[in-house]
Amino acid sequence: MEFVASVPSPSVPLPEGDLPQVAFSGRSNVGKSSLINTVLRRTQKSIARVSATPGKTQALNFFRVNGEFFLVDLPGFGYAKVPKRVRESWKTLIESYLETKTHLRGVVHLVDARHEPTAGDVQMVDFLARVQIPTLVVLTKMDKITRSRRAAVIARAASTLNIDRDQILPFSSKTSEGRDGLLEAMDELLTPEGDPS
Ligand code: GTP
Ligand code: MG
Repeated sequence: MEFVASVPSPSVPLPEGDLPQVAFSGRSNVGKSSLINTVLRRTQKSIARVSATPGKTQALNFFRVNGEFFLVDLPGFGYAKVPKRVRESWKTLIESYLETKTHLRGVVHLVDARHEPTAGDVQMVDFLARVQIPTLVVLTKMDKITRSRRAAVIARAASTLNIDRDQILPFSSKTSEGRDGLLEAMDELLTPEGDPS
């Protein structure tokens, strides 16, 4: 996976080319870097180094994977701990990218399984439905959820986000639960219908 571009504002052009894009979103600390590392089987260190570039967390970050697609790392949506002005500018940046959707095939939105989805999560998932972008919700840190609570946690997320349960994928970077399912889902998003490859 190679870093290609950081897009800090809607006036900065997106990377050129026709590669399909899958974007990842979720609030800070949700486990996004860990998930990307798990999916691409990279070490925490290699991604951490990439994301240590100043200002990058406040931009859309484009990574090219195997020369096949762009993985787009979105800044945290509705994250409470930044000033309202900053939050508003991220929202504008993210929404203008998602609305353009020229090469965007889908969004993987991450929610921490230990907590009920936040208002920011609801806002994001609603927005994606409104602009008709295929969306998968990944419940992260499932290893922290006991067996007996799993079904209830998944049902709660589906209900709060007003989506179908099969739009939700339980995931853990600790145990790699959900890794294969996520790779399959990404493959489905990235492979156009009717394309036998
Ligand atoms: P920021 O980039 O800092 O906003 O966070 P992030 O969303 O990239 O999360 P990151 O992957 O850095 O993980 C945040 C914390 O959650 C770290 O302490 C991780 O070790 C922990 N974490 C991430 N994924 C899992 C998981 O599947 N299980 C458990 N138990 N902890 C996890
Ligand atoms: Mg991160």
